[in-house]
Amino acid sequence: MKLFSTLMAVCVFTTLGSSARAQISPQQIQQLSNSCTQCHANPELGAPLMGDSKHWQRILSKGEDQVILNVVNGLGSMPPMGYCSSCSEEDLRAIVRLMAAQ
Ligand code: HEC
Repeated sequence: MKLFSTLMAVCVFTTLGSSARAQISPQQIQQLSNSCTQCHANPELGAPLMGDSKHWQRILSKGEDQVILNVVNGLGSMPPMGYCSSCSEEDLRAIVRLMAAQ
């Protein structure tokens, strides 16, 4: 019985994992609101604002991988990892997609 439920859990997890790849997890939303919005929701700091899709289009035209690299290493007054020490590269990618899309 235990084995069965473990298998079920693995199944559900894999299905979710593959279909929900482009979506954002509650933990990533937490990371976004704890770190990134400090600057990316404040028009006075010069950071591209959440949902400013024109600005984000220009940024993403460099290619998403380059943009993620800039987040990891920092860029101008954007701090390395955007102050999110618990963010993985995958978390940052999901967060950037959300910031650019809203
Ligand atoms: C201390 C303020 C600050 C925090 C915190 C911050 N950013 Fe930024 N971010 C900036 C500023 C300022 C820029 C503009 C940098 C430039 O173009 O010189 C920027 C630019 C960016 C860019 C565009 C990079 C590019 O290639 O042009 C991305 C993507 C980004 N931030 C993502 C994030 C994410 C994700 C987080 C949270 C994990 C975050 N930022 C947290 C200030 C911040």
